[in-house]
Amino acid sequence: MGDDLAEVLYTEQQIQERLAELAGEIWRDYEGKDVLLVGVLKGAVMVMADLMRHLPGSVEMDWMAISSYGSGTKSSGVVRILKDLDTDITDRHVLIVEDIIDSGLTLSWTRSNLESRKPASLEIMTLLRKPDVVKVQIDVRYVGFDIPDEFVVGYGLDYDQQYRNLREIGLLAPHVYS
Ligand code: PRP
Ligand code: MN
Ligand code: MG
Repeated sequence: MGDDLAEVLYTEQQIQERLAELAGEIWRDYEGKDVLLVGVLKGAVMVMADLMRHLPGSVEMDWMAISSYGSGTKSSGVVRILKDLDTDITDRHVLIVEDIIDSGLTLSWTRSNLESRKPASLEIMTLLRKPDVVKVQIDVRYVGFDIPDEFVVGYGLDYDQQYRNLREIGLLAPHVYS
């Protein structure tokens, strides 16, 4: 499976170190507040599992599944909720947890959807962010790594639903596409 990567961008250790740093920041910022982590299925499963285990105290988590219709690897901004939150987030401190922001369309839609439920606060954490996201101007409080505009897989990120279980993040080798 690792042979299918042309290049490793972030090793398991680099990912864990960065998540530990972000967890420290998050824990300080939310001191005295009861934070609810909201993950976006399926890509965010690894980030959620590891980020929350780097936090020194207890937190709640919930999940949303959304589908965006688009051509190929780009999303279109037309979004549908496949699974909604179980939690009423009114007056809650909500932190959205994502694996990657690419065009930003998924997250700008999700953010305004959650905003309309009147949480006490709403922030975003993403492990990876691509440069195009500046176009949609979403305010992202916590970013793991800014990456170039290349198709990345592993650590929750898929190519045709595969490679989510890689421990590292990398670029797929050309032979996989053909
Ligand atoms: C991927 C990724 C983000 C989104 C980012 O999810 O996990 O959620 O795309 O793209 P955008 O910024 O251009 O909207 P995907 O829709 O592939 O579903 P998945 O998480 O199940 O892989
Ligand atoms: Mn996703
Ligand atoms: Mg995907």
